[in-house]
Amino acid sequence: MTRVLVLNGPNLDRLGTREPGVYGTATLADLGDAARAVPGLEIDLRQTNDEAELVGWLHEAADTGDAVVLNPAAFTHYSYALADAVKLVTSAGGTVIEVHLSNPHAREEFRHTSVISGSATGVIAGFGFDSYLLALELVRRRAPRLRRDGRDT
Ligand code: DQA
Repeated sequence: MTRVLVLNGPNLDRLGTREPGVYGTATLADLGDAARAVPGLEIDLRQTNDEAELVGWLHEAADTGDAVVLNPAAFTHYSYALADAVKLVTSAGGTVIEVHLSNPHAREEFRHTSVISGSATGVIAGFGFDSYLLALELVRRRAPRLRRDGRDT
């Protein structure tokens, strides 16, 4: 089984009621259910409003080699600490896919910049929950047979 950390940044705990015209009406729990239905993956879905906690989870992924699907939410646009933590994972050979429900490039100017993308493996944005499901499909397709710690997947 390939383990995937599905990490979510600030205000994503409010999905369902937060700007439904932009983010839809499904909740993070609904996303967890959809993610856990993808075969071959062990999903660990987490959300925090705390930058330090998100950095800590990325350190965990750098150490374990677990793949990461990351919606950094507003941290996308200004958190160099998060960008450095993402770089820790990818420079160690790990995978971090940056995802967004909306297409930030089609929104306000401040959302057009991601300080994270340059450190991530790749980016999927604008497809609602399908952004996450596409990222999980990529992880599944590209899963290495052996984890970096040598354990069989
Ligand atoms: C978001 C886009 C960000 O600009 C915003 O701050 C979010 C959600 C998205 O998933 O579309 O919180 O990351």
